[in-house]
Amino acid sequence: VVLSLLLLGLQGCAPKAVDFEQTSPKEKIVLTFSHVVSDASPKGRAARLWADLVYQRSGGRVEIKIYPNGTLYKDGEELEALKKGYVQIIAPATSKLTSLDSRWGVFDLPFFFNDLEQVHQLADGPVGELLRKSMREKGIEVLAYWDNGFKILTADRPLENLKDFQGLKIRIMDSPILKKQFLKLGAIPVPLSFNEVFEALENKKVNGGENTPSNLYSKKFYQLQSYVTISNHGYLGYAVLMNRDYFNSLDQETRKILLDTLKEVTAWQRKIALEQNAADLARIRNDQNIKIHDLTPEEKEAWQAVLKPLAYEIIPLFPKNLQSEILKIGN
Ligand code: LMR
Repeated sequence: VVLSLLLLGLQGCAPKAVDFEQTSPKEKIVLTFSHVVSDASPKGRAARLWADLVYQRSGGRVEIKIYPNGTLYKDGEELEALKKGYVQIIAPATSKLTSLDSRWGVFDLPFFFNDLEQVHQLADGPVGELLRKSMREKGIEVLAYWDNGFKILTADRPLENLKDFQGLKIRIMDSPILKKQFLKLGAIPVPLSFNEVFEALENKKVNGGENTPSNLYSKKFYQLQSYVTISNHGYLGYAVLMNRDYFNSLDQETRKILLDTLKEVTAWQRKIALEQNAADLARIRNDQNIKIHDLTPEEKEAWQAVLKPLAYEIIPLFPKNLQSEILKIGN
């Protein structure tokens, strides 16, 4: 009898395996935020600012603990960890969400956006809302859309004319559109997680890659390459994600502090992402060991002719009314 009472008691105390306990506005809450980039990147800096402001505004009650550089979870692991509730917040590149819904590939479309304003129109409008809804159905809450910026190309040889891509192994984020982009150029796309890129470039497992100046600079990828082409051919940005059941288990006050603060941080993040990519590009340009090529209008036109039709692989996946919305925004 004593033993069964003890067991019953223990069962009563044990947290339920799947459900998250509802929090109270008085208790200490610790959220883990895992991401793969440097603390000095636009995503890393915004994560820190969000954590600091939330801590201050909650009087130290709500704490966001940040694990940068993929030290906790790498690409490919972090989504699974979020779904299982091992981590509460992640902010993967939208390209990496294409495994859950291929329509995320709209952000990957080459030469589709003229500027970040157009990207924001898409993310902050009905298309961003549709993607939020799709993720909610999969148990994930999209809390915000953050920028990195436009990607440039790095390689161990010059990339100017289309024929320069022939047979080159190019690292990509795992996304069908990015894969097709390099196949169309005659290159061999190699999907690798962000943590594997430095080693792959160093050991010449790949000839090149595409990334933003801030990622290339903060991770020193550019130092392993001799040539940079300023192509600004595609966008790289993020969705800030939380496990939906965990989000719903948070008390009203905690949710309000997190979301109100995130709104402010997102406005700031988009501003500094633009500034930082410009500053990091200037630093890369200053490196004497790198040869920089700015795509000429003629070269750009030739690249666009090959790559822009990829839009027709993604846009038809959206409902009719959104297709015209997307076509109004991009080109
Ligand atoms: C990459 O894998 O190149 C990027 O998604 C990394 C990041 O989070 O910016």
